[in-house]
Amino acid sequence: MRAILRIRRFNPEKDSKPYWGEYTLEDIQPTDRVLDLLNRVKWEQDGTLVYRRSCAHGVCGSDGMRINGVNRLACKVLAKSLTDGDGDAHVQIEPMLGMKVLKDLVVDMEPFFAHYRAVLPYFVNDTPAPEDGRERLQSQEDREVFDDTTKCILCACCTTSCPSFWANGDYVGPAAIVQAHRFIFDSRDMAADKRLDVLAEPDGVWRCRTIFNCTNACPRDIEITRAIGEVKLATRRGVEKQREVMRKEHAK
Ligand code: SF4
Ligand code: F3S
Ligand code: FES
Repeated sequence: MRAILRIRRFNPEKDSKPYWGEYTLEDIQPTDRVLDLLNRVKWEQDGTLVYRRSCAHGVCGSDGMRINGVNRLACKVLAKSLTDGDGDAHVQIEPMLGMKVLKDLVVDMEPFFAHYRAVLPYFVNDTPAPEDGRERLQSQEDREVFDDTTKCILCACCTTSCPSFWANGDYVGPAAIVQAHRFIFDSRDMAADKRLDVLAEPDGVWRCRTIFNCTNACPRDIEITRAIGEVKLATRRGVEKQREVMRKEHAK
């Protein structure tokens, strides 16, 4: 099988604007992912091509990019899934939208991580730990209500596919809300109100217009729009009441 690639290229040190680079790869294998194709272009044709990658197994979240118009992890997309009538794989690759491009497919992630830090994405509990040396216990039912949002790998595929974020980069974005959700609904945590204060601001959860691009883009299949809706409800009815509703929904 052959792969025909169009890759968005930009080197700020010499290009006045981005352009499309075109590459053809022969003899691609049925098991090749888009990341394998990028590696072959870099290793065999143009060593100046720049992109992020690390684990190559959908775990680290570093190779989020726009592949044939959809945000995906390059290491999770089989090239053979992008073939069309002529039997060749046609692959168009761009950096994620809404972020400053530093070079080729690498975007500046700092604003994304600033939104992440703003929601206190860590466990807060200043009360003394149990004296018997055990962990703070939690029922299976209480754990269940935030299980989905523990799966996030911070790839940014959701936030950078959201039209509300494209229109306003100050919107905290779905990834930060997913991270907030994971701690807001943790029955052992004590900083939910602080997180909800941040998310009730004009650039918080209410910027979400329920467009669902985020949910469709998530490589971990997290029900992001649902999680955002649960956080919205918590700002209205309080965390305890919302957690109770979620416990009942998960028990069904
Ligand atoms: Fe990536 Fe999904 Fe986390 Fe968004 S919620 S950053 S798409 S893993
Ligand atoms: Fe954006 Fe997702 Fe809401 S795409 S508008 S954050 S449902
Ligand atoms: Fe780690 Fe793709 S390289 S998720």
